[in-house]
Amino acid sequence: MNAQAQLQQKPAHPPFGSVLTDTMAVATYRNGQWSSHELKKAGPIEISPAAHVLHYASTCFEGFKAYKWADGSVNVFRMDRHIERMRQSARALALPEPDAGQLQEMILGVIDRVRDQVPDAPGALYLRPVLFGMTPNIGAAAIPPGELMLLVLASPVWDYFSGGMKPLKIYVETQATRCASHLGVAKTGGNYAAAMGPTLAARKKYGVDQVLFCPGGEVQETGAANFLLIREGRIMTRSLDSTFLHGVTRDSLLKMAPSLGYQVEERVFTVAELLAWVKDGEAALSGTAAVLAGVGTLVHDGREIRVGDGDVGQHTKKLRAALVGVQQGEIRDTHGWLQRV
Ligand SMILES: Cc1ncc(COP(=O)(O)O)c(C=O)c1O
Repeated sequence: MNAQAQLQQKPAHPPFGSVLTDTMAVATYRNGQWSSHELKKAGPIEISPAAHVLHYASTCFEGFKAYKWADGSVNVFRMDRHIERMRQSARALALPEPDAGQLQEMILGVIDRVRDQVPDAPGALYLRPVLFGMTPNIGAAAIPPGELMLLVLASPVWDYFSGGMKPLKIYVETQATRCASHLGVAKTGGNYAAAMGPTLAARKKYGVDQVLFCPGGEVQETGAANFLLIREGRIMTRSLDSTFLHGVTRDSLLKMAPSLGYQVEERVFTVAELLAWVKDGEAALSGTAAVLAGVGTLVHDGREIRVGDGDVGQHTKKLRAALVGVQQGEIRDTHGWLQRV
């Protein structure tokens, strides 16, 4: 193989989330209160083999990004919403809520320390607060942990879906659920564990990228992103309820939509409606990692169904560009979503 071919084979960047920056923030919870936090070298932590989280999955986390703008500044996107969702996840899991002010300081502290490790656009710094139960007790299935650790990790990231803007192939799953219906709003490890089996099975059988969970024939979301139907002048997506994660990207796109010429319809809709829509409409996944990723093909009942013309749709591209433009500081942030760090 010549040098040129070797260069072409080598991935340009490490896979999403596989590398951490050198700094993390740490706080602990004990005797009903949070300790002060510290910034440390990111590395292994000591944990009891009996730690609550290892047995009873007492954990929740967040994921969001800070962007390096062309002027060299670093700007974090909707941090307050992500902190609020972290607190909501903790409540749903009967864990002590992180203090919003302290968590914000931890996040800003990490970003400040690692600002030279924030990749240029289209890369970003992915921020990952995570809370977990440390109480050493293997007999506490129905007792929340009294000792917890809160970390803020950071990771330089590039593309989540390795194909970039390649249209996605999605399996429409009408039997299995992504998670327990009351915990859909929580960003908790157990939900991803529950989605793993159906996702791997669909990947193996149909070669899909992701699974769209539609228990009982109602469209919900995929394993790690919300689901939007898009066409000229309209966006439709499931209305908020406890069964799925209330994405900040979803919320941002819906808030931007009217000024871009789209009416938003939030309601429960069925797989039959989905199949009718994609005959000449678009479908896309929204999330911090996916941004807005177009769907090209659905697999339903063993059949492949083309979405629109099978490529990433023009409205999906337009909405994605508008959101990315705001995040990158190229389009004015009229909503006050970005905070310079
Ligand atoms: C299950 C699930 N749904 C939706 C989303 C999208 O949420 P957000 O737009 O806040 O990143 C995520 C996370 O990215 C997720 O894990």
